[in-house]
Amino acid sequence: MTGRAVVTGVGHYLPERVVPNAEFEATLETSDDWIRSRSGIERRHFAADGETTSDLAINAARAALADAGIDANEVDAIIVATSTADLTFPSAATMVQSGLGMTSGFAFDVQAVCAGFVYALSNANALIVSGQANRVLVIGAETFSRIMDWSDRSTCVLFGDGAGALVLESQDTAEQDRGILSVDLNSDGRYKDLLYVDGGVSTQTTGHLRMQGNQVFRHAVEKLAKTANTALKKAGLSAQDVDWIVPHQANIRIIQGTAKKMGLSMDNVVVTVQDHGNTSAASIPLALSVGKARGQIKQGDLIVTEAIGGGLAWGAVVIRW
Ligand code: UT7
Repeated sequence: MTGRAVVTGVGHYLPERVVPNAEFEATLETSDDWIRSRSGIERRHFAADGETTSDLAINAARAALADAGIDANEVDAIIVATSTADLTFPSAATMVQSGLGMTSGFAFDVQAVCAGFVYALSNANALIVSGQANRVLVIGAETFSRIMDWSDRSTCVLFGDGAGALVLESQDTAEQDRGILSVDLNSDGRYKDLLYVDGGVSTQTTGHLRMQGNQVFRHAVEKLAKTANTALKKAGLSAQDVDWIVPHQANIRIIQGTAKKMGLSMDNVVVTVQDHGNTSAASIPLALSVGKARGQIKQGDLIVTEAIGGGLAWGAVVIRW
């Protein structure tokens, strides 16, 4: 029987090393005050030498599987949203599959930068509602510290490393109304130069992240409330029905601006940007996991997640938790 994609487990992992804003003051012309006031970020985690994206993803996956009370071999598919996979190939997802000791099913990566988790959720939902998979592990995992230009104060103070994971399971939920209710995805390649990495396989360099921050900011404020409202409309709902916005955590001012445009109070927003910085595709599942652990997110709550990033690519997913 095919049904809705219901969240049955959530978990996250953050590398041990915590880097407060003040650490950047030693090497850059910046200040804790500037970073806090312009972005809301106070600290972020950086992976240890040799610690890779799939290592973070495996830890987050284990936490989500434990929360769901299932074994890895009960999962049909793994999707990892990442722009910082360990190797060019194979996918980070197959590395997670191996790390979890899972010998069946299938695994692949999704690359839509900061919107990656929203895109991955959309893929997982499609696999479940079409009956191709019953249980899907969806992970967002990143080591953006590996692609920072440490001399560029306008970017290197903003990003962090981490991973979050959800277990989605096919359930016939007509009565409880739980699960993924709707999705809205968008991209516009005309804006590809606003946020990109100036390297890659065919240029034979790893490259560094480059961003026209204030341009991305402008698009974010305009596009995020719109995609969230569109996704809600597709589900026959409106912003007034929302218990929690769980936004991509890039900048507190973007998060506040989006909530305001949707007519919602910051009391309805899960905010983790102060502790994690911008962890790209990992930021939404991290915030979902932290939001549940804090006691904010409860079963039956209506959640809208929204994100924008390089591409530009953006979108939103509505979930009844
Ligand atoms: O996750 C993917 C999506 N990404 C985002 O959503 C990021 C969107 N953008 C932003 O969050 C913000 O644009 C930033 C936090 C990146 C920057 O904030 P802003 O208010 O847009 O500042 P700005 O880029 O307009 O820069 C203002 C000033 C500049 O100086 P001048 O030209 O006015 O003299 C910058 O050089 O701040 C300067 N500046 C800094 N000063 C101290 C830039 N970075 C720093 C820094 N410390 N780290």
